[in-house]
Amino acid sequence: MAANPWWIARVTALLAPADVRALDLGALWRLRERLQFVRLNVDPALLGDDLAAVPGSAAAWAAFGRREAQVLAALALAGGRVADRLRSGSLGHAAFRAHWEELGFAPHAEGAGTPADDFLDGMFHVSRLAVDEARAAFAMLNLASRAERVADFLGVTQPQADDVVFDLGSGSGKLALTVAASTAARVRGVELVGAYVDEASRCAAHLGLGNSDFVQADVRELDLSQGTIFYLYYPFHGRVAQAVAQTLGRLGRAGDITIYASGPANDYGEFFLAEVEQGALRLVERRGEFGEVMVLRGVPSPRVRGEGATGGVPSPRNRGEGQGEGDVVVRPSATVLAANADQTRHSTRPLTPTLSPSPGRGGYWRRSRSSSS
Ligand SMILES: C[S@@+](CC[C@H](N)C(=O)[O-])C[C@H]1O[C@@H](n2cnc3c(N)ncnc32)[C@H](O)[C@@H]1O
Repeated sequence: MAANPWWIARVTALLAPADVRALDLGALWRLRERLQFVRLNVDPALLGDDLAAVPGSAAAWAAFGRREAQVLAALALAGGRVADRLRSGSLGHAAFRAHWEELGFAPHAEGAGTPADDFLDGMFHVSRLAVDEARAAFAMLNLASRAERVADFLGVTQPQADDVVFDLGSGSGKLALTVAASTAARVRGVELVGAYVDEASRCAAHLGLGNSDFVQADVRELDLSQGTIFYLYYPFHGRVAQAVAQTLGRLGRAGDITIYASGPANDYGEFFLAEVEQGALRLVERRGEFGEVMVLRGVPSPRVRGEGATGGVPSPRNRGEGQGEGDVVVRPSATVLAANADQTRHSTRPLTPTLSPSPGRGGYWRRSRSSSS
């Protein structure tokens, strides 16, 4: 008798619990991912042989198909309930953020993921299985940020309504969509691969996230000057990383920007450090288990600060700094403050939200969180 094919045991395990309607969105997404694994790994060309040779396998495969349909229907219902509340505004930014952060970042004992990731991935339909090999030589794989990283980004940068957050290499949009649903900031994802841009745009439209948009472009070709906060998660390396670091360096000399960049030291991080050496950016700190996240800030040049050029107004963000060792506090003179006040009155797009200093954060700043929902 032919041996059981591997997928029969998997399928059998995936038939519990019988009633999926009691599962929450995250649990449904996990189940969907495990079903998807079977779907992607059973070769249709060989399936017929299995079904003909192994008694009971046809029934197992039929049950698998029914299970997929059940789980997809339950997912649509569970996701639809949250989507309705987001669209209607009854689930505000702060409540949405609190919900997924409170689910937590403890890894599951078996398999990848955390409860917070399950929820966000289920909301935005971001698959951990999607590994698309069709990518440019300089580009990294489309792997989405983990929820814990997103929470850290939000805690560190605290995007406000007048911020413009750029996700440079936005992939399927997990970071950008999460930030758009969790804050009042304007969020723009930039992504090379059109299919990812379409997925993320569809999801944003479905959820009514009018504060987000997604652009298909090479980040090197796009005007980034409206950005106040930049997020990068292992997006590219080599010459692209160098060009982007230089662009951000230019923006850093012109205005108060914040960069939260994750990636390897070699062929990526080194280009940001070159901008630090040139005085365009300041390395505020390294974060993450291996220090793979660099938090950098612009260093608007004195000329820009003094003359009040666009985006170069002495920033209220800067007023909270200089509390830690090694920080140079730039305190604008009364004249500059007066010019700044004048500039602010006439500015069509102020770049600088209200800040409150965070004592004890080693020269780092914390903005006071205003109601974002
Ligand atoms: C690791 S994914 C990041 C996903 C997303 N930022 C997140 O955190 O969930 C990196 C993405 O950068 C994109 N990318 C690489 N080079 C790019 C470029 N020059 N311009 C735009 N996107 C690029 C890749 O296609 C890939 O989808």
